[in-house]
Amino acid sequence: MASVAIGSSEQYNYDIVRKFTIMALIWGAVGMLVGVTIASQLAWPFLNFDIPYITFGRLRPVHTGAVIFGFGGSALFATSYYIVQRTCQTRLLSDGMASFTFWGWQAIIVLAALGDVMGYSQGREYAEMEWPVDLLITVVWVTYAIVYIGTIMKRKEPHIYVANWFYLAFILATALLHIFNNLAIPVSLTKSYPLFAGAQDAMTQWWYGHNAVGFFLTAAFLGMMYYFVPKQAGRPIYSYRLSIVHFWALIFMYMWAGAHHLHWTAIPDWTSTLAATFAIMLLMPSWGGMINGIMTMSGAWDKLRTDPIMRFLIVALSFYGMSTFEGPMMSLKDVNALSHYTDWTVGHVHSGALGWVAMISFGAIYHMLPRLWDTQMHSIKLMNVHFWLATIGTLMYITAMWISGIMQGLMWRAYDDYGNLQYSFAESVAAMHPYYAMRALGGAVFLTGMLLMLYNCFMTIRQAKSMPAGGLAASAA
Ligand code: HEM
Ligand code: HEM
Repeated sequence: MASVAIGSSEQYNYDIVRKFTIMALIWGAVGMLVGVTIASQLAWPFLNFDIPYITFGRLRPVHTGAVIFGFGGSALFATSYYIVQRTCQTRLLSDGMASFTFWGWQAIIVLAALGDVMGYSQGREYAEMEWPVDLLITVVWVTYAIVYIGTIMKRKEPHIYVANWFYLAFILATALLHIFNNLAIPVSLTKSYPLFAGAQDAMTQWWYGHNAVGFFLTAAFLGMMYYFVPKQAGRPIYSYRLSIVHFWALIFMYMWAGAHHLHWTAIPDWTSTLAATFAIMLLMPSWGGMINGIMTMSGAWDKLRTDPIMRFLIVALSFYGMSTFEGPMMSLKDVNALSHYTDWTVGHVHSGALGWVAMISFGAIYHMLPRLWDTQMHSIKLMNVHFWLATIGTLMYITAMWISGIMQGLMWRAYDDYGNLQYSFAESVAAMHPYYAMRALGGAVFLTGMLLMLYNCFMTIRQAKSMPAGGLAASAA
């Protein structure tokens, strides 16, 4: 196994962490490039070029797959393997199985993207992949669970640090959601029909979809937060007790809230109400977690002036707080009657996706990278520039979507004095154009930051490789 020959890296399998980290950077750049492309297609439709493979409809799931599973997933594999080894003071259960999860996961992302572009899709959001890919996901995921749980079982520390609890919940819940949402009857290699029908099918899909948000895009990234915020701040977590309450409350409540994605549809009314109730209650554990993270900074706030990693982490927590306030509000049936089908939802998604998921991942990767390659970041200045581009890009994106979304919702429900609809649908589309252009620009700003990060990390790795064996320690000696 290739490993940098110094310090504790011998003791742990860092090779796998390095591989997933590099792929997180690459998928981040690819996924965001596709994001900017589809944002531009919405603003300037001629960019679809009438080529079926690259139309908005096909590229959209390529975007969501590449950013959520490629970028987010690889960042989660990397950080979970890094954290579990360090906090359990032991090497991964099996290098071979970990390596299988790497190659398997990358194959899944590529196959999923190819399927989307070719037009093979189950038509289930975030679960577009047809059954052969679904089977591969199951095998890779079970292997991941065995490596992760096995590593915890052979730990040398008596205590299981709370970050591992969050990753564990994410691994178990994702397995459960994936299997039930993909129960289908195959009719050919590229086509299958879901086992459930009608409202049950919709409820299964959104039970999955919502908990993909709750466990993939939230719980696992909270695991990241619970490790990297205290590490970077050089302080213990503000309240360990709060982190345990946060954990159990969060994972219990998320499971019930999925039906808020289906308000005002054919599902029974009581399921809507139940989902909204749990979504409102979710505000409490979510904010408990955010406060726990932010308060960990007590006594270390001065670091924000000089440390770009700390800035990424704290801004991520702020966006987490904001999107978990907005989400419960949007789950109220009356608010949802306005927000659903509009860009408000897309704005909410990206305040979570860019502000929380991407920012916390950037902070975590910047923290790990020099440690993994035993060097220093090539340029702190570029990290600062990245921070500002990411923050400004996110704000431009979500502001544009708030205005566009609320305007859409209001235009669609406006009546004139005679009781007719005041605006045609086409008028609402025309009114959105400036905000779509603004979103595409905000996305391009965010993507520029991502490309700077890719360059900075590439240069860091290159400089590390050109150092004598033993890295920094040897070169300083
Ligand atoms: C440069 C950055 C990005 C740009 C420009 C961008 C752009 C877009 C666009 C144009 C859509 C389609 C919206 C629609 O159908 O009306 C979309 C959807 C989506 N994107 Fe992004 N995106 C970016 C980054 C990300 C990241 C980093 C994530 C996740 C970590 C993400 C997750 C999603 C999700 C989940 C959806 C589906 C939203 C829904 O169904 O409501 N995006 N994105
Ligand atoms: C307490 C926390 C949260 C609650 C209660 C919540 C609630 C909601 C609601 C009500 C919707 C709109 C459903 C609709 O009208 O179709 C929604 C959409 C969405 N939210 Fe959240 N949200 C929360 C946090 C987050 C976070 C942190 C993220 C992270 C990225 C996120 C990602 C998404 C995504 C991807 C969708 C779009 C799903 C789709 O239609 O494709 N949410 N959320």
